[in-house]
Amino acid sequence: MGRLGGSVLLLAAMIAAAGAIDTVAGPQRLSAEPLRDGEWNASVSVSLADKKPISPLLFGIFFEEIGHAGDGGLYAELVQDRSFDALAAATGFLESSERQMRLDCPALLAAHHHPMEPLHAPWRNPSDKVYRSKAEYLQERRADTNYDPRNDIIVAWQPLPGTNADLTRDNPLNEHNRISMVLTAGAPGTPSGIANFGYWGVALQRGESYTVSLYLRTSESSSRNVTISLVSQDLATAYANVSFYGVGGSWRKFTGELTAAATDTNARLAILFDGPGTLQLDMVSLLPTENVRRGEGLLNPWPFRADLLGALKALEPAFMRFPGGCYIEGDWLRNAFRWKDSIGSWAERPGHLNGVWGYWSTDGLGLFEYMLLVEELQTEPIWVINNGVAHGDSVRGADIMPWVEEALDSIEFITGPADSKWGSVRAAMGHPEPWNLTWMAIGNEDCGKPFYLNNYLAFFGAIRAKYPHMRLVANCDMGQDAPTDVWDWHIYTNPTDMFNRRNEFNGRTPENSNYVFASEYAVTDGGGWGNVIGAISEAAFMTGMERNGDIVLLGAYAPLFVHWNNRPWPTNMIVINNHQWFGIPSYHVQQMFRQAQGTHYLATQVVTNPSTQVHEDKVAASATCQNQACDRVALKIVNFSSYRQRIAVTLSGTGSESILSEGELVFLYSDHPEDENSFDEPKKIAPSSAAMDGLSSQFTLKAEPVRTAVAAPQRLPSTNLDVTHAVDATLDVIQSSIEQLKSSYNNTPAHHQPASPPAAAHTPAAAEHHSPAVSPDGQRWIGEAQADGTILFRSLDTCCGHMVGEEADGTVTFHFD
Ligand code: AHR
Repeated sequence: MGRLGGSVLLLAAMIAAAGAIDTVAGPQRLSAEPLRDGEWNASVSVSLADKKPISPLLFGIFFEEIGHAGDGGLYAELVQDRSFDALAAATGFLESSERQMRLDCPALLAAHHHPMEPLHAPWRNPSDKVYRSKAEYLQERRADTNYDPRNDIIVAWQPLPGTNADLTRDNPLNEHNRISMVLTAGAPGTPSGIANFGYWGVALQRGESYTVSLYLRTSESSSRNVTISLVSQDLATAYANVSFYGVGGSWRKFTGELTAAATDTNARLAILFDGPGTLQLDMVSLLPTENVRRGEGLLNPWPFRADLLGALKALEPAFMRFPGGCYIEGDWLRNAFRWKDSIGSWAERPGHLNGVWGYWSTDGLGLFEYMLLVEELQTEPIWVINNGVAHGDSVRGADIMPWVEEALDSIEFITGPADSKWGSVRAAMGHPEPWNLTWMAIGNEDCGKPFYLNNYLAFFGAIRAKYPHMRLVANCDMGQDAPTDVWDWHIYTNPTDMFNRRNEFNGRTPENSNYVFASEYAVTDGGGWGNVIGAISEAAFMTGMERNGDIVLLGAYAPLFVHWNNRPWPTNMIVINNHQWFGIPSYHVQQMFRQAQGTHYLATQVVTNPSTQVHEDKVAASATCQNQACDRVALKIVNFSSYRQRIAVTLSGTGSESILSEGELVFLYSDHPEDENSFDEPKKIAPSSAAMDGLSSQFTLKAEPVRTAVAAPQRLPSTNLDVTHAVDATLDVIQSSIEQLKSSYNNTPAHHQPASPPAAAHTPAAAEHHSPAVSPDGQRWIGEAQADGTILFRSLDTCCGHMVGEEADGTVTFHFD
């Protein structure tokens, strides 16, 4: 027998009844079989009496600007490099002090990856080594100290034959957008202009309206007329035209609507004019008119591509971490995501080189747009901010305060009243109502990098002092070094290791450990471009998240999106091109677990049967109450084995005797572990659901090889008061999991309590304020109250200094330790 796939079973009638999971056709009805002695490979025992609350934020998403997730992806802009900054970066003009640079476009296209390369084009390095994928290519290139991300920039503009194109700093559009394009016409009477490839083609839908806008001027004394066309790849067929008249000596914004006469997913936007003469242009934008309409009332159009927004909504994420990842760090600090450059009118955002992932970021998706997305998804924001640490350089402690101010200002931008300094900027962008913000992450994967500890302490102290409600995510468990509210845990691995990681958090409790945010997890090695076996093993890992859902507060698969034509990372939850998307099997697992995320974990034990022929430790399971009353239970069972498993399910505890016989099974399965979805077969691997009967407190289920199954919640009859009462008895302390977690936080023993601000009554003022104290030599120190009444101070200005101090009458006396 060849190697079979695997399965995830979700036994959860409620889920399918709600119709929230997008299932494909499967069997209509399945029957559980009675339990017979010894006739099972693994047993799953669930105790209805033994439960604990789990975090309501357990399953969320992580949006990072990687693989064109934003620009060319969720961001609705159809023109690539609308402000010519990518060209400027690719040619070196950006960093030069030249006034003007003539582009040798054929040479540029040859030196850079052609935007229309076939999907599986091999990536080559300068010595012509061929790689299987860009991911492989980038991995090796990055290890090379000479790696320069500018070489990976796509050249998206191509002048028409005979037209000269120059990047220029003359007559900038505005002070933030300082580079523009000057076209010089060829021979008089011949059409001149430039065409844009979009993001691997501009996707047009017949009859749909698109809004073009651009800024134009000319240096000629007479005014000029310009035509914008949506055209076929060979520029021979025009699908729509709009002409603008009277382009003069001053910059002016021209806007027009274009209705596509045909569907073409590989079209171009062309800007055409007649020579002789020159035309200067900047901020060339094309959006579905629907986005412009929906943006009424906002400073900028509605920023999201509708189908991809739908893909996210279908996940109903509990939170969204954004916008990185390495993206927020930058390869160098000069390329880090800085939120103040990402707000205001799109035409006034400078954009920046996304140096880690090798393309230009317009910053059209900026802090405002991320918060709009959070609002649209009705989810909890987790805003990751650069804390002065990039991959290649760091801000030293002595210089960190402006970065800390930037973080504080971002909180005001998001949450401040409309008449506050930064709240008023948000209001002017069309959102006077403040948003809520509770979570912020201080950097990404930066522990161990120079100045992280100092910078973290400065951020933590200042944010907590001004916004005591904030929960702050550290990049690792800071242990005794610094307070840890919650710390980031990342894993990218192979399927077997991922399956084994279901036990990763066992034994950690709020009493002995700091809270965990599994903010990035995925199978990247052996997971193909997103296959079944990877998804199944992630499902097993997620059962471990549920089991430990009192200490693992949040978790997210990563990365979220990738454009098929530019894949810097092998596995990504949602694969897109310019007009389609599909979820890899992991997408469906995420959706299955989120839809069946409960309020409590029910003690679930998996035991394998040593007396059967197939005896492997390859089954994972977890059960959750779907509501406070616990009258619906979801059981997730994962079969990671290459063999079919007969699973004996036992539900014990009060009320288990009155379980209804009807339930529902949602399952994800393939015979081939390497199976993947694709644009041609987007739902080759997707959950199916079936009504289940024959359920009782003991039954058997067959789990297909290497599949993931989530079984349906069992509805317990309301007449069974014992169960209801048993649950109610604990409800007064677990009204809301997160509230309970927060309060338990303040009751935990001192040795792992630094995550929370010390209780005011026991805290010397300097530590309580978390504002830096200044020692006689001018160094700044952040204090933390100790059990013995002293304050342990850590230096903000040197890497490793610490000292103790005592406070009397508001004055701190320092002693070196
Ligand atoms: O998810 C891709 C990258 O993996 C993230 O940017 C980074 O945090 C991690 O190394």
